[in-house]
Amino acid sequence: MNQSEESGYRPLFQQWDNRSWVRSKPRRTGAFASELHYFSPDLCPLFAHPEVRAAPEQVREEILVHSLYVYLEFTVQLELGPVNETCLMLHRPDFCPWLSAEMKEDLLRIYTDEAAHAEMSHTLLATVRDHTGVEPIPHRPFFLQELSRLYATELPVYRPLVKLFFSIVSETLITGSLTKLPKDPSVQRVVRELAADHAMDEGLHHAYFRRLFKSLWPKMPAPLRTKIGVVLPEIILAFLRPDEAAMTHMLAGHPDVFEDPARVVTETVELPRVRQGVVDNATPTLRMLAQEGAFSDPAISAAFDKHGLRRSA
Ligand SMILES: [Fe+2]
Ligand SMILES: [Fe+2]
Repeated sequence: MNQSEESGYRPLFQQWDNRSWVRSKPRRTGAFASELHYFSPDLCPLFAHPEVRAAPEQVREEILVHSLYVYLEFTVQLELGPVNETCLMLHRPDFCPWLSAEMKEDLLRIYTDEAAHAEMSHTLLATVRDHTGVEPIPHRPFFLQELSRLYATELPVYRPLVKLFFSIVSETLITGSLTKLPKDPSVQRVVRELAADHAMDEGLHHAYFRRLFKSLWPKMPAPLRTKIGVVLPEIILAFLRPDEAAMTHMLAGHPDVFEDPARVVTETVELPRVRQGVVDNATPTLRMLAQEGAFSDPAISAAFDKHGLRRSA
C-alpha cells in the first residue's frame, strides 16, 4: 500500500476497545412491553400491502415477530457466513497482499464484532421466541441461495472474488433496519438498542470496506473489473431484495386471513414503494462505485440499468 492509501487509516480502529459493542457495552436485555411491536411496520415490506394492513391486529403483530426473526437470522447467517469468511480470506498473507499490516490486523477486530453480532442476534431471537411462544419459520435466507447461484455460475477461481464483493456490498450498505429501527418508538426497547449498537459498529466497518474497495478497484485489471462489475447488481439485489419465501411462509401461517399468500407477496414486491426502497438502500454502494468511475465501463453501466439500479444515485 502506498503512502496516500495508508495516510489517515490508523485512527479508524484506535478507539475500538472503547467503542466496539462486544468490548465496551452491556448485553441488551429487558422486559418486553405488551403495547410495543417486535419490529417496525415501516420496515416490513408486507405492511405496504393493503390486505396485510387490514388483517386482524394479532395477525399483524405475529407477522412483525416473524419479521424480527428473519432480520436476526439474516444477521447471524450473514456475519458468520460470507462476511467473516471474507475477513479470514483477507487476513491471509497471500490474499490482497498489498493490504497494510494495520488493515490486516483490523480484520480480526471486524471478525470479532461480527461474531458478537451473530451471538447477540441469536440470543435476542431465542428470548423473543421464549417470551411470545411464536416459533420461527425454518428457512434459508434468500441472499444465501442467491450467493450459491452466483458461485455456481462462476469458475472456481472467481468465487472468492464474488464472496469478497458480496461482503464489500453488504458492509458498505447501511440498511434501513440499522438506521431506522433504533428510532422507531413503537418498537420494543431491547430491539431498538440491539439495532443501535449494531449500527455503531457497522459505521466503522463501512469505513473500512469503503477504503478497501477504493484501494482494490484500481488495482484490478480492466477485464476483471468488467467481469465482476456486471455481476454487482445481482450481488446488491441478493442482499437487498425482500425475502419472498420467508414472507410467503409468514402469511401461510394464517390461511383463514390470506387465502393466496404467494399472490400477496408477488404484489408486495412489485409495489413502487417497495421497489424504491431497494434502490434507496443501494444508494451508498452506488455512490461509492460512481466515485471510483465504475460506471464509465459501458458493460457495467448497462448491467445496472438492466436490473433497475440507477447508477446516477
Ligand atoms: Fe455486523
Ligand atoms: Fe460489519
